[in-house]
Parts: sequence; C-alpha cells; structure tokens
Amino acid sequence: MAVTEQQIVGKLVRIAGPMIEADGMLGVSMGEILTVGKLGLMGEVIRIEGDKIFAQVFESTEGMYLGEDVHATGVPLAVELGPGLMGATYDGIQRPLLALQASSGDFIGRGITAVALDREKKWAFTPVATVGQEVISGDVLGTVPETKAIEHKIMVPPYMAGKIASVKEAGEYTVEEVIATLEDGTELKMMHKSPVKQSRPVHKILPPAEPFLTRQRVLDMLFPIAKGGSAIIPGGFGAGKTVVEQSMSKYSNAQVIVYVGCGERGNEMAEVLTEFPELVDPNTGDSLMNRTILVVNTSNMPVAARDASVYTGMTLAEYYRDMGYDVALMADSTSRWAEALREISSRLEEMPGEEGYPTYLSERIAAFYERCGNVICCGTEATSDNPRGGSLTAVGAVSPPGGDFSEPVTQTSMRVSGALWALDSSLAYRRHYPSVNWNTSFTLYFDGLKDWFEENAPNGWIMRRQQAASLLQRETELNDIVQLVGPDALQDQERLILEVSRLVREVFLQQSAFSENDASCELEKTFGLLETILVYHEECMKVLEREVPLTRITELPVREEIFRLKEEPNKGFTATKDACIENFKQVLGALEAK
Ligand SMILES: Nc1ncnc2c1ncn2[C@@H]1O[C@H](COP(=O)(O)OP(=O)(O)O)[C@@H](O)[C@H]1O
Ligand SMILES: [Mg+2]
Repeated sequence: MAVTEQQIVGKLVRIAGPMIEADGMLGVSMGEILTVGKLGLMGEVIRIEGDKIFAQVFESTEGMYLGEDVHATGVPLAVELGPGLMGATYDGIQRPLLALQASSGDFIGRGITAVALDREKKWAFTPVATVGQEVISGDVLGTVPETKAIEHKIMVPPYMAGKIASVKEAGEYTVEEVIATLEDGTELKMMHKSPVKQSRPVHKILPPAEPFLTRQRVLDMLFPIAKGGSAIIPGGFGAGKTVVEQSMSKYSNAQVIVYVGCGERGNEMAEVLTEFPELVDPNTGDSLMNRTILVVNTSNMPVAARDASVYTGMTLAEYYRDMGYDVALMADSTSRWAEALREISSRLEEMPGEEGYPTYLSERIAAFYERCGNVICCGTEATSDNPRGGSLTAVGAVSPPGGDFSEPVTQTSMRVSGALWALDSSLAYRRHYPSVNWNTSFTLYFDGLKDWFEENAPNGWIMRRQQAASLLQRETELNDIVQLVGPDALQDQERLILEVSRLVREVFLQQSAFSENDASCELEKTFGLLETILVYHEECMKVLEREVPLTRITELPVREEIFRLKEEPNKGFTATKDACIENFKQVLGALEAK
C-alpha cells in the first residue's frame, strides 16, 4: 500500500481478533485504510475516539504485538478498475487469489500484497476520443478487447472533466501507461481506483423495463425480476441457494457476472474456485470466466474481509454497468456478511440490536441493494438521443439459522429488495428443486414488466401465468379439504385439479440443474410446458363433461408424455409441444362414456 506524505503513525494498543485499537492517530478519517504492524496487514478505520482509532483488519492478527506501528494511508478502501478484471478471481480486498497462491502456496500468507491488475500485461487500445474534445466522466476514451466476450471501455473516471490534450494512437499499452491527457495536465490511464463504499455515479436511474431472465421456469414465470432489480434467496442449509445462484451465473441474460462467495462451508469456496473456470458459457461455447469475476473469501480469511468482499464485488459490478453492460451480482451468502458485521460490532462493544446484530444492519443491507438499478450511464451521450444504458441486478442468498425466516437478516433483506424467492426445506427434502415456495415467494416487478412480456413473450403469457397461480391456489384449498374430510369428498373436477396441479409442480415448477436439456429454460419452453399442461386440463374437463370418469383419463399414457416434454431441448420446443397437444387432444376426444 502506497504511503502518502501526510503520514500518521500510531501505536497498537489492543488486539481483539479481527479488531485492533491504536493511539496517536489524530487526523485519520473514518473508513481510511491503515497498514498494521510489522506484517503490514491492511485494516480499515471503523471508529475514532480522540487520537485513538478502532480498525478492522482484513487478515489474521495472530502473532501481532502491542506497540507495533500503525500507518495511516490517507485513502479509503478502493479497488483497481481497468482491463484484466474479467476472468479474475479475487479475495475480499481484491488480491488476485491465483497470483497469491503462486507466491505463497495454497495457504495464503499474510501481508502479501499482490496488485489486482497485472502491471506488465499489454492491452490493445483503440482510441475513440480525439484531441480537442470536451469530455466528462463516463466518456469513452477508447476500447480494449478484454476477453472474447467483453469489450472493455476505457472511460473518463468519475468526477473528472476537461478538454483532451493528447490521446495515444491505437497500440499496445499497460494499465499504467498514460493513454490520454487533459488540458489541465491530468493524466488518464487505462486503470483507475474507485472507493468501494461509495456507489459510482450514474446519469439517471430509470424504472425497470426488461426482465432479468434466470432461465428457471418458476422464477421467470411466477416471480420475475427486472434488470436493475434485486431479489433475495433465503433458504435453510441444503435448500438449493448455491445451485440457483450458480445456475443464474451460467444461464441468465446478464452479460457480466460478479460472483461474491462468502462460503458457509470451507470446501464450498474451494469448489467455486475449481468449478467456475471449467464452466462453459452456453451462449458462446467459450469459458464462462470470459464474462465472470469471482470475489471469494477463503476460509482462512477473517470476518472483516467478508465485509470488504461485498463492497468490492459491488464496485466491480458498477464499473461494468458504467460501460453499458447488464451486470448481475450474485452474493452467496449475505448472512455470512451480516455475521461479520455482528462480530465486529460486538468486538467494538456497541449496543447490540436484534439477535446481537448491530443496529445499523438494516442500513447496510439497504445501502447494498440500493446500488442496483437500471440506469443511463454517465457521459456526454447521456443527454443525446442514444444514451448508453446499463443495469446492475443483485441476487443475495440468505442463510437463516434453522431455516427460520423471521430472523433479522432475512426480514431486513426482504424489506429492501424487490423480490423474495423463498426456498423451502420441505420441498428440497422431497427433491422438489428449485425448492421455491410458490405460496410465500413474491415479486414487486411484475407490473412493471407486463408490457415487456406482452410484447416479447409468447402470446398468452400473462393469462397462463394467472391460470397457473390460481390452479396452485386451488390445490392448496383442496388439500385442506382432503385433510379435513378425506379424498372421497372431492368431485372428479376437483380431483382433476389435483392431478393437473401435480403436473404443474412436477413438470413445470421442478427443474433439474443437472439435466442437460432442462437446466436452462428459454421463454418459449417455459411457456410451452405450462400451456401444454393447461390445455391438457381444458381437454380433460371436456371429457368429464361427457360423464367419462376421471380414472379413464388417468390410466392413459398422456401424463407420461407430458412428463417427457421437459427433457426436450429449448430449440424447436413450440413444434414439440404442439405435437404433444395434438396427440392428446385426439386421444381424449375419442373417450366416450360407456
Ligand atoms: N435445481 C436443482 N436441481 C437438482 N438438484 C438440486 C437443485 N438445487 C439443489 N439441488 C441439490 O441440493 C443440494 C444442495 O444445494 P445447495 O445449493 O448447495 O444448498 P444451499 O446452498 O442452500 O445450502 C445440491 O448439491 C443438489 O444435490
Ligand atoms: Mg450454499
């Protein structure tokens, strides 16, 4: 960490796990980064009392001694932004994990500083800006082909403006070379630093307009969210949170994924590190890492790094949004972050709020989700007819202890995000995956997305969605009756509803993340599957009207044929399901009362 001129050096007077106290620090600011002790560990000021400061340290403080020096750096926690982020794997304070592993073995040593962006690597820069041009923050100076999937826009950093005095011609440059200068002498490089706890500016926030498609049927049909929106996925241990987050990383319609892993189990993060690089982007056939950044807390990192990782991930996501991409941030699990806040707060001996969490928990969680949005990006073109738009969507997993959603992290997150995808352990136990509970989940985005679905989704989307919801509702009611008075109380029409809603659950709502054809579902197939089941319902009703008993219908092989549909590929699904519908219409039409 570079040390500034106005250097303040204090002395370590207390060490309490991830928290330290130092005195002689008059003049430091809240949030300022410190280097602590002989090892030069990175810490962040979280409370100031006179000349004494309290700081959280992002690495293990073991073996540190009282009296060691604490240096102020004059800068807040910041990330490096520039070409080379895409495909990288960082820890919570943006140290590249692979480079660290190479220099210190599997167990990451402390105080090792490795820069986030490679200083040696040369990138092919093509200028866009020209000499004499007036530029403001967000204007594109040039572009760099960062990966096969991502063109990196080199932009004027936030809060900067001027007239271009010089700009480099097309060529290969490192991130530290000056690629443009402003008339006031400001030097612009391909890399700049951005404080993580402050949101990066946007020109304007727009209402949500397009869906963030997860390619999970239950979510896209019943509980869709918008690009720029947010959702939380609470669920007990093993309910399927990680599988949902990873499926969305692979299949959603986001162009860039930032995956923040605060693992519950130590080996889970190791799995992320080994598995993600091997994943293939279903759209391009290339590595998924071409459009993914991983921010991962290894199990040997202290709690403060978890807090940092959430902000690091968010800032990286904002940076690509600023370029005009649709970015999705996946956080798994935000409960580990909240627990980190709780631990630090208790070390600070702050007055605890609900369940020991700090009273500012809800503020922090709200501030996190508020950084999402569908926006017009900064830059001169923002006021033109063709402004650059980007979006940042966040999906946060929540791990309530014992699966009890009444706890503070779930409750707070639910209030500040726009959708709840509630995972249900009893569904997971019955192997109903994704275990999204259709009774308790909700989305606030559907009304805003209605027009989009009406124009872009297959015809009848809104109607079929409504029918599916009421069918599931009827099923719940009928099951209550059966519980009370037994199945004999039901009429054939009602039994048919139970039959069909079972199809809705097992064929439509359930979706295996491990089936080649079913893991990702396009709108065409999502709609087609549901339509098939609902048309089947309509046709069966006609048969019952002819006084044919329901058992004659259920003994037909039609059910199995509908079941097999979900294993059919997305491509050409409309024709596949049309054939299936045609077939059962004939079979059912031929049924007559005996
Ligand atoms: N969509 C799914 N399809 C198939 N299996 C699933 C699905 N979701 C979860 N599972 C099963 O449940 C297990 C636990 O899921 P996981 O996402 O790790 O739970 P959590 O993160 O909530 O603890 C997975 O290893 C997998 O076997
Ligand atoms: Mg998990």
